[in-house]
Amino acid sequence: MATLEIPALIARKRDGGELTPDELAGFLGAYLDGEVEDAQVAALLMAGVIRGFTEAEAVALTEVLVRSGDTVDLSALTGPTVDKHSTGGVGDTTTLIVAPLLAAAGAQLAKLSGRGLGHTGGTLDKLEAIPGFRVDLSAAEVATQVQEIGLAVAAATSDLVPLDKKLYALRDVTATVASKALIASSVMSKKLAGGADHVLLDVKVGDGAFLAEPADAADLAELCVRIGEAHGRRTGALVTDMSQPLGAGIGNAIEIAVAIEVLRGDRPGDRLTDASLALAAAALELTGVPSDQAREQVEALLADGSALERFRAFVAAQGGDSSVVDDPRGVLPAAPITTGWVPPAGSVQGFGCRRLGELAGRLGAGRMRQGDTLDLAVGLEVHISTGDRVDGTHPAVTVHARSEEDAQAVLAELPDVVRIGDQDAAPVELVQARVGLG
Ligand code: URA
Repeated sequence: MATLEIPALIARKRDGGELTPDELAGFLGAYLDGEVEDAQVAALLMAGVIRGFTEAEAVALTEVLVRSGDTVDLSALTGPTVDKHSTGGVGDTTTLIVAPLLAAAGAQLAKLSGRGLGHTGGTLDKLEAIPGFRVDLSAAEVATQVQEIGLAVAAATSDLVPLDKKLYALRDVTATVASKALIASSVMSKKLAGGADHVLLDVKVGDGAFLAEPADAADLAELCVRIGEAHGRRTGALVTDMSQPLGAGIGNAIEIAVAIEVLRGDRPGDRLTDASLALAAAALELTGVPSDQAREQVEALLADGSALERFRAFVAAQGGDSSVVDDPRGVLPAAPITTGWVPPAGSVQGFGCRRLGELAGRLGAGRMRQGDTLDLAVGLEVHISTGDRVDGTHPAVTVHARSEEDAQAVLAELPDVVRIGDQDAAPVELVQARVGLG
């Protein structure tokens, strides 16, 4: 595409017009080849965020992203292949519970993940808190492991959807992440390139998510489902609450410990357990299992230890110390300072969920810039949910810190981040919508 056309395309989007699939492909293809500048793409993105990208543009964008790199061929696998993706939240370790649950149910998951940017690491960073755990598996190793035990979690290579990596980095620094079309095309391009026939999305809504409004999250879920189905993948989504941390842990090793505790059945009824069961059941539904049967099946696989044993086999297969399953807190790295925050008696009215994530990031659990080193041991443990009563004597949050000074800095902020009041408060519904499911 002649460079001269680029400003005209940006201007059309700025004025509320639509770009054709060929125009988007030409524009972004030239960007990947280094012929179009960051500033020009940033201008297009901002115009699209303000004016809105159409559904046709979102579909076209997804195709451009998928075609920018390699795709994974899972056709040699024998079970139903499933992928699961969360749009991102605080204390969200459902993948580490849902994947072994689904593997125990006979599904196959080859999960290619990235490293996190933000309050805590991504799934790969969290898993690396387990001593010896390897995420740099070759495609052949992933395929063999998935065929043998039903799951593998590996680092996505830079050959998979390279344009998404470049665009995401630009969106991150230009305040253009929170667009439904951009999120949907980014998420779905990676799922389509990942090769699974069944795709379950966990679209988060609330202060700790990219989208705070339920209607926006439902629109995003519907757009993702339509893009997946248009590409022949059975796709469904749950819209789930992110107005409060999902699991008790916020921080890499702490999240692994909490996920293992869920798999061990030690956290019945908590929100992470409930969300994981709902997601695993929804994924099974996509593979054709009737809804009530799917729920019963995943509950049974959690209760009888089958999912825990899959997790043990998964850790061992990737070189990790599988005794972490028996003694997570003994095996995982621990922070030298742990201190509890005891709020006054009352009811938990709500959280600054994003701020809680940021506090964990400030302790060292998150990466503010690509390449930053994480402190895998530090973070927060949140023992309360919205609607709970607190008695003024028990810790509501435990701070895991590298130094006393770090711990004190976080303790000083918690009263502003966790809202306690005299009025009774209602718990927040965990699963707020189901899209593309029966
Ligand atoms: N997750 C993604 O993979 N991409 C986005 O754009 C937002 C969340």
